[in-house]
Amino acid sequence: MHRVQIKDKTFVLKFAQDDIQKRISDLAKQIDHDYNGLKPLFIIVLNGAFMFASDLIKNINIECELTFVKLSSYQGMQTSGQVKEIIGLQHNIAGREIVVVEDIVDTGITMENLLTDLNKLGPKSIRIASLLFKPESFQKKFPIHYIGYSIPNDFVVGYGLDYDELGRNFPEIYELTHT
Ligand code: IMP
Repeated sequence: MHRVQIKDKTFVLKFAQDDIQKRISDLAKQIDHDYNGLKPLFIIVLNGAFMFASDLIKNINIECELTFVKLSSYQGMQTSGQVKEIIGLQHNIAGREIVVVEDIVDTGITMENLLTDLNKLGPKSIRIASLLFKPESFQKKFPIHYIGYSIPNDFVVGYGLDYDELGRNFPEIYELTHT
């Protein structure tokens, strides 16, 4: 499919399935290399990162653990800027090497809040793996070590990302058309 319609919006194909899979396999190789022998704990941020995390972790060959958290939700197409709380962190992360797995870093507000909260729990290190990054919209300074794609400031859906909860199921990524 080259175009999809969700409610009142039309989206056009941005990254095809094969392209995404290839990019993720490269990211997994880097992580395998960087964390060999360190038994990282992947903290997967639901809901958006579920598909990315699943494909990423399938490509990880080193010993690792994973856990899932939720943050309070994002509505519509504007980032709310509200402080979001971590829900459901079951692991003790003290002294652990953490890789946070996220679908997208936009303004960076959500991730910065998450990093602040996680840092209070005494991990040994934290790095971020984000499938998508919007550098023009980013307002923060923290590093993102593993980025799938840097994209312009356009709204995207698919591959876990939603527009009003729709479109998460697409195996590709689509961007909003301006026409
Ligand atoms: P931030 O706090 O502005 O970095 O926003 C991060 C959150 O906003 C992500 O975890 C997504 O849930 C959502 N978000 C930002 N941009 C998009 C987009 O283009 N499509 C879908 N969700 C987005």
